Amino acid sequence: MRVAFVGKGGAGKSAIAGVLARLLARGGEDVLAVDSDPMPGLSVSLGLGVVDAAIPADAVTEQADGEPGPRFRLRQGLTATAALDRYALPAPDGVRFLQFGKARASGAPLMRSQWAFRQILDGLPSESPTIIGDLPGGTRQPFFGWAGYADTVIVVVPPTSAGLLSARRLAKLATTDAAPRRLVAVVSQARDDGDAERVRQRTGLDVLGSVPWDDQVLTAERDGHSVLDVAPDSPVVAAVTELGDRLAAHTHTAQAALADSRGGP
Ligand SMILES: Nc1ncnc2c1ncn2[C@@H]1O[C@H](COP(=O)(O)OP(=O)(O)OP(=O)(O)O)[C@@H](O)[C@H]1O
Ligand SMILES: [Mg+2]
Repeated sequence: MRVAFVGKGGAGKSAIAGVLARLLARGGEDVLAVDSDPMPGLSVSLGLGVVDAAIPADAVTEQADGEPGPRFRLRQGLTATAALDRYALPAPDGVRFLQFGKARASGAPLMRSQWAFRQILDGLPSESPTIIGDLPGGTRQPFFGWAGYADTVIVVVPPTSAGLLSARRLAKLATTDAAPRRLVAVVSQARDDGDAERVRQRTGLDVLGSVPWDDQVLTAERDGHSVLDVAPDSPVVAAVTELGDRLAAHTHTAQAALADSRGGP
């Protein structure tokens, strides 16, 4: 399972991604949570608090002028898997956490860290680990390579007019060449049962789940904690558990269909 969360700023992407990553790890999966937002977010919802650690600039070397391929590559001898082992941080429940770094660092080193981050994700074997990715708000990153690892892109949609409009724009981008294999919506900060239907109608996307408004998310985050630790029985944790089950069921069906089409188990 490889999922990327996209959506408007403040939609609830990080809140859902962090809890989902930990719940999947509790279920026995090898989970890598990846954060390509230069602002803080995912580390808090994972329960790590604010983490500024960046992939070091010397993880990549610059190619000579005229060399084909990307300008920066993982330094010689450093495979994607080895780089992950070296630069990912341990998070609760056995999740590993990778980010390129936060916007505090000056421009040049962060750019090298971003190249390293992309190359690690592009170079991992396709079957493992499970990846849960958290992208920054807006429409710029999702379809220009940053979510290239994802088999499913989830648009997180708060049921506000701005949230719905952003989701519609993201859904339109899904018709471009760089579209992900599967694009679905998850309602976030839902207030009533009608929100899911509103999101479906206004975005044209399948709605895979609905996460209710829950003050306990804010209460937990105010102190830099994960809602999973502070309020494990909260409605928001129950909703993300259900979302994880649906994603797992879909992954299972997709793998079975693939095996069928190849004529093997
Ligand atoms: N289900 C929820 N119920 C109540 N508050 C929520 C819920 N989900 C998120 N929030 C709150 O909304 C704010 C934004 O959430 P979050 O940081 O997860 O959004 P985001 O989409 O990752 O934002 P950004 O685009 O800035 O990264 C936070 O203050 C968070 O506590
Ligand atoms: Mg975020």
